[in-house]
Amino acid sequence: MAKIGSDIEQARNYLASGRVVAIPTETVYGLAANALNAEAVAQIFAIKQRPHFDPLIIHTDRMEKAFQWVEHIPETLKKLAEAFWPGPLTLVLPKKALIPDIVTAGLPTVGVRVPDHPLTRQLLASLDFPLAAPSANPFGYVSPTTAQHVNAQLGEQIPYILDGGSCRVGIESTIVGWHHEAQQPIILRLGGISLEDIEAVAGKVMLQTHSSSNPKAPGMLSAHYAPRKKVFLSLTEALQHHSPQDLGAIVFREPIPQIPMKHQLILSSKGSYLEAAHRLFAALRDIEQLPVQAVVTPLLPEEQLGRAINDRLRRAAASA
Ligand code: TXA
Ligand code: MG
Repeated sequence: MAKIGSDIEQARNYLASGRVVAIPTETVYGLAANALNAEAVAQIFAIKQRPHFDPLIIHTDRMEKAFQWVEHIPETLKKLAEAFWPGPLTLVLPKKALIPDIVTAGLPTVGVRVPDHPLTRQLLASLDFPLAAPSANPFGYVSPTTAQHVNAQLGEQIPYILDGGSCRVGIESTIVGWHHEAQQPIILRLGGISLEDIEAVAGKVMLQTHSSSNPKAPGMLSAHYAPRKKVFLSLTEALQHHSPQDLGAIVFREPIPQIPMKHQLILSSKGSYLEAAHRLFAALRDIEQLPVQAVVTPLLPEEQLGRAINDRLRRAAASA
C-alpha cells in the first residue's frame, strides 16, 4: 500500500532510485518517474495499463530547464510559456535525443510543462532530471484530483503519494503544438487555460477537436474519462432508457426538475467555470456511489473553461 504524505525528501529518494511516485499538480495528480530512465518510465505504462502509443508529458520547475529538452521553439509558443508558466499549459515541441522514445511513443516531439504546485515545484527543483507524468488514473478512467483518488485505484502499485491537497484547477493542462504548414499554434487538448486566454497572447490558433483514433494525440481518444455509469448529455435521451428516479445528474448551476434532488451534483451554483472545473472529476467519481442507473450531464455554454469541461463530458458520454 502506498504511503501518503507531504515529505518531498521521500518522494525524491524513490524517484532517484527509479521508482514511480504520485505527485500533485494544479491540474490533476500525476504518476511520475525519471523521464530520462526508460525502465522507470516503462513502469508508468504498466501501472496505468496505458498503451505504448500514448506519449507522456515531461515536467520541470522552470522554463529554462523545460527548454533544455527541446530543439526549436517558435516565438509564439515561447510567448505562451512566458505568459502561462508555471501553470496548466503543455507545449509540444521537437525533442532532444536525450528523451527516451518510450516517453514520446516514438514521436519526434515531446510535451513539456512547468506545473504550478508548491510541493511539486520544490520536488522538481531538487531533481537533476525531469519527471514524465501522465494523469494518475487507470487508462481511460477519470483523472484524480486528490491523493485519496490516486490511492483508491493505484495505491497498491506505488510506494508513495505526495499529498498536495485537492487540485486547484481540476482539469488537465491545455496542450498546444505548432502547425508547420499553417505556421500557427494548434490546440491539441483543451484544458485549464481557455482558448480565449491562449488567443489573447498568441493571436488566432487552430483547434484540433477530438478524433476517434489519432495516434498524434491519443489523449484525444473520444472515449475517455469514463465513470462506471452510463452518461447521457441529453435528458430526453436518458428518459428514453430510464425512469427519472433511476437517474442522477451533474449540472452546472441549476438542478434538473424531473430528477430527484438527492441524485444531483451541482458544479457551481454561482455559475463559475473555475469552480465547475475544480469539482468536475470528483463529481464524476461521486456519482458512481449514487443508487442510480445512469447520469445526465448537460453541456455547459461553449466558452471559456466551459469548452474544456464539455470536452470531458462528451468523452465520458462516448464510453459504453
Ligand atoms: O495536466 C496535465 O497535463 C496532467 C498533469 C499530471 O501534468 N497530465 C496529463 O497527462 O494529463 P496525460 O498523459 O494523462 O495526457 C497527456 C496527453 C497524451 O494523452 C497525449 O495526447 C498528449 O498529452 N501528448 C503528450 N505528448 C505529446 C506529443 N508529443 N504530441 C502530441 N500529443 C502529446
Ligand atoms: Mg490522462
